[in-house]
Amino acid sequence: VAPLKVGIAGLGTVGAEVVRLIEEQSRTLSARCGRGVRVVAVTARSRVKKRKLDLRGIEWARSPLALASDPGIDCFVELMGGSGDPALSAIEAALKSGKSVVTANKALIAKHGLRLAHAAEKHGGALNFEAAVGAAIPVVKTLREGLAGTGINRVYGILNGTCNYILTRMEQEGLSFAECLKDAQRLGYAEANPSFDVDGHDTAQKLAILASLAFGTKVAQGAVYVEGISSIAPEDLRAAEELGYRVKLLGVAVRTAKGIEQRVHPTMVPKTSSIAQVMGVTNAVTIDGEGIPPITLVGPGAGGAATASAVLADIADVARGIRAKPFGRPVDKLRATKKAPMERH
Ligand code: HSE
Repeated sequence: VAPLKVGIAGLGTVGAEVVRLIEEQSRTLSARCGRGVRVVAVTARSRVKKRKLDLRGIEWARSPLALASDPGIDCFVELMGGSGDPALSAIEAALKSGKSVVTANKALIAKHGLRLAHAAEKHGGALNFEAAVGAAIPVVKTLREGLAGTGINRVYGILNGTCNYILTRMEQEGLSFAECLKDAQRLGYAEANPSFDVDGHDTAQKLAILASLAFGTKVAQGAVYVEGISSIAPEDLRAAEELGYRVKLLGVAVRTAKGIEQRVHPTMVPKTSSIAQVMGVTNAVTIDGEGIPPITLVGPGAGGAATASAVLADIADVARGIRAKPFGRPVDKLRATKKAPMERH
């Protein structure tokens, strides 16, 4: 079988790691997929930037759109980020030409996921976004495939590594918010615009994606109530601690009598609870399924290597010929989403 020919747009923290890993894991990938996986072309904002990356033998496309339309690739991997163009038009062009797409772009999937899923369905390609939520944690697959036969009542957890890293270091070392954020940026955890992390929008985007997969509703970031952590100080964490609590930024999506409630806000959790033990850049997602005890997935939620791990898994699915419905069911079967009134739980 011919190898899967991959084109990668974006060579930042994640993109560079994906190129490196595809090379490093090439034997494992071909053993697991029954065919090879090769990066044949890349594109990024700057061609001259120093990257510690061996790009010999790899073609340089002149733009994301040119790469997406290149008949020489089978799978377009979008790692540029941003909820609009150039990522959106490039992904759309790739899907319309029947290619499969892998993306880590939660902002884009939360905003345009339906439209893109429709294009994928119509033209027969895959649209995989495991890396968009929980980085290396296979939570998209768990909801989409692993729990395909189970009704879901609630999905919640810690979905932003940067915020959890900041809260952990503020609590343990008494450092200021600004200092911790700077470190999270240096370590490659934060978004290009870190206000998306600390204001809760990154969590909201991820939650909207999980809610759609869990409840069969149309992904809608606008239906999420959002509050971030930027006004939290070390003293607040100390006060919580004295009462036996830790503060975590949680995303919660729950089925209620009035619809699917989706909310993101700092939450006091008892120090003895399992969610309170999740420290640093780690993410955790708990899924309450009908008739089974809760399932919790815990793992690295941000960073180049963790995100690249999920991107590789998505590419492997394309190589194997798997074409799952992006949101777990046909687009026309997804129900409308409205902002449900908040209730006490
Ligand atoms: N900025 C995100 C986070 C990256 O900190 O969780 C992973 O989506």
